Amino acid sequence: MRVLVGITGGIAAFKAAEIVREFSELGHDVRVVATQNALRFIGSATLEALSHNSVSSDLYSDVADVRHIELAQWADVILVAPATASFLARTAAGLADDLLGNVILAATAPIVVAPAMHSEMWHNPATVSNVTILRGRGLRVIRPGVGRLTGDDTGIGRLPDVDQLVQETLSVFSVKDLLGKKVLVIAGGTREYIDPVRFIGNRSSGKQGIALAEEAKARGAIVSLIAANFSYVASEVQVFNVQTTSEILEVLDGTGLDFDIILVPAAISDYRVESVSKSKIKKVDASPLELKLVQNPDVLSGIAAKVSSSKPKPLIIGFAAETESGEELELSAKEKLGRKGLDLIVANDVTGGKAFDLDSNEVLILSKRTITKVAGSKRLIAQAVFDSIAKLDGLS
Ligand code: CTP
Repeated sequence: MRVLVGITGGIAAFKAAEIVREFSELGHDVRVVATQNALRFIGSATLEALSHNSVSSDLYSDVADVRHIELAQWADVILVAPATASFLARTAAGLADDLLGNVILAATAPIVVAPAMHSEMWHNPATVSNVTILRGRGLRVIRPGVGRLTGDDTGIGRLPDVDQLVQETLSVFSVKDLLGKKVLVIAGGTREYIDPVRFIGNRSSGKQGIALAEEAKARGAIVSLIAANFSYVASEVQVFNVQTTSEILEVLDGTGLDFDIILVPAAISDYRVESVSKSKIKKVDASPLELKLVQNPDVLSGIAAKVSSSKPKPLIIGFAAETESGEELELSAKEKLGRKGLDLIVANDVTGGKAFDLDSNEVLILSKRTITKVAGSKRLIAQAVFDSIAKLDGLS
């Protein structure tokens, strides 16, 4: 894809280097248009090296080539990141007083805008109304992140993560094969409490679940996410924060399981402590501490049993992290697919900590009849999972 990255003059402009690099690494053609003020924060040499193209910034250079029209027609998609309050105001007013402004006015490609500024400027009624105008014209304005800003202050206004910006830009072209479908993702790792401060937990980070939720959203689904012990905030995703397996079950009860697709990458504890101490357990000299664990219900099998007679029946996708590889991994995954009544299972080898908290993974996606091997980012794996779901009977 041909991606035009516009950069305006805010401190977050230094992050544009990472954005340009990521688009390039994903195999896209990248060209950069920076405002003069953007180049006070980041050097054009960096951007040229990373994009493998020269950086355009001046409306009056190469006038004979009619650069703004050439760039506007070249782009399949435009991302402006960071977008300053001033850029939002100029664009809302239709001003074309620099090269980027001219490109934006001339472009027919989808435009994604990622504002970054201090919270006060984001909340200023002028900015609020400019954002409304831009959204009304079909530009996709990404809500800034919350966190540390340039000074000592914190709040809304940060440029979101590079990954998120890149994915949201590319998702403009996603196939909308889940339009209106209801998708539930249960992700993260449960905690089973021993006492008020201690718990038995696991290493799951929730990243694969986030990637699945984002991919489903990009394909047009209405997404709910049960997040076990990780935080996630995104527009248009309904998030339920939970800690324990029984809290997952409570949330599930409240939903009535009214979904088209249910995906469960969560590491759900098979056991919980039989009696959780109400007060912090004290150490008793030299004596061992014995904990009695009782089995938790199997959430996936419970869902599969409850929806077995629903019409239409939701598709159920399980995950299996195993310390096995090759044929053994395939055999255990197949056994779980059948035993838990699943439509698909995504299996991976976690020997030596592979996959935990990392951004990429290698998995097998198995249905009753097919096996697909996928390696790459968790988002790429999410895409492959939804591509496999699309091939299953039952999702119409
Ligand atoms: N799972 C579940 N409820 C549990 C345990 C696991 O719903 N109490 C789900 C997981 O979220 C995952 C799938 O079942 O989608 C497979 O999890 P896994 O731990 O591999 O399966 P187990 O049945 O626990 O088998 P084992 O631990 O013996 O390998």
